[in-house]
Amino acid sequence: MNVVLITGASRGLGAAVARILAEMDTAVVLNARSAKPLYELMAEIEANGGMALALPGDVGQLDTCRWLVAETIETFGRLDAIIHNAAVIDPIAPIAEADPQAWQTAVSVNLLGPVWLTQAALPHLRRQQGRVISVSSGAADYGIPGWGAYCATKGALNQFSRVLAEEEERVTAVAVRPGVVDTVMQNEIREKGATGMTVQAHSRFMEMHEQGNLLPPEKPGRAIALLALRAPREWNGRFLSWDDPDIATLNS
Ligand SMILES: NC(=O)c1ccc[n+]([C@@H]2O[C@H](COP(=O)([O-])OP(=O)(O)OC[C@H]3O[C@@H](n4cnc5c(N)ncnc54)[C@H](OP(=O)(O)O)[C@@H]3O)[C@@H](O)[C@H]2O)c1
Repeated sequence: MNVVLITGASRGLGAAVARILAEMDTAVVLNARSAKPLYELMAEIEANGGMALALPGDVGQLDTCRWLVAETIETFGRLDAIIHNAAVIDPIAPIAEADPQAWQTAVSVNLLGPVWLTQAALPHLRRQQGRVISVSSGAADYGIPGWGAYCATKGALNQFSRVLAEEEERVTAVAVRPGVVDTVMQNEIREKGATGMTVQAHSRFMEMHEQGNLLPPEKPGRAIALLALRAPREWNGRFLSWDDPDIATLNS
């Protein structure tokens, strides 16, 4: 049975990916800071006949990253893929005004966590010819006013994924953008963006919500689950959109 570690699995996209992977006969290792929703998700997956392990902790801490991999191996004896999904959108503020400490947290969670977790996991991923899936964003490629830390860390995450793809012969690394998804992160953008973003940038997200155009997490969630289990070696280093027609070919 494949074993996949998913960060940010307590809600939103990460929880959707975990449920879909569990339905695809995969043992899922669930990480986020909030213990209660993680244990509830673990119980739900187990009640449906799946296998799950909840490991609460802050992925922005080196020790936590090493512990997550060690516990996964201790419990399941293997690791086939990591999905770097945990991220924070804060600080939503212009660079001139943003809290320096909030920038530091964003770099730790959105960038250094994936780096540290990958370093700890690589010996196991190489053994399985495994995969590293980085959940990125369209914001990796565009400058969005008020999103300095988020844009910078997602751009860096894409570059991390590309370099990993060049370096590792037995591991496949891809980054994926999930579209605009109906999660807590979008609530935060609508609320905090009213002051931290330009009116034009903020109103785009308000309108998408008002017009019912946000994606349910299950749609990009399925694409991410398919990538974690089946992304072919030839895709190493790619930055894909969740609805890339290539991903649909992995469905069969
Ligand atoms: N929603 C969108 O429209 C959208 C668009 C493009 C990209 N994305 C990307 O999709 C991914 C999932 O986002 P989402 O929309 O599902 O966001 P979300 O609802 O805010 O969920 C974020 C998840 O990350 C966890 N998390 C935050 N800080 C953490 C930390 N220090 N250590 C471990 N876990 C942490 C949260 O749980 P705890 O708070 O319990 O730790 C939560 O489970 C992110 O990488 C995001 O950048 C989202």
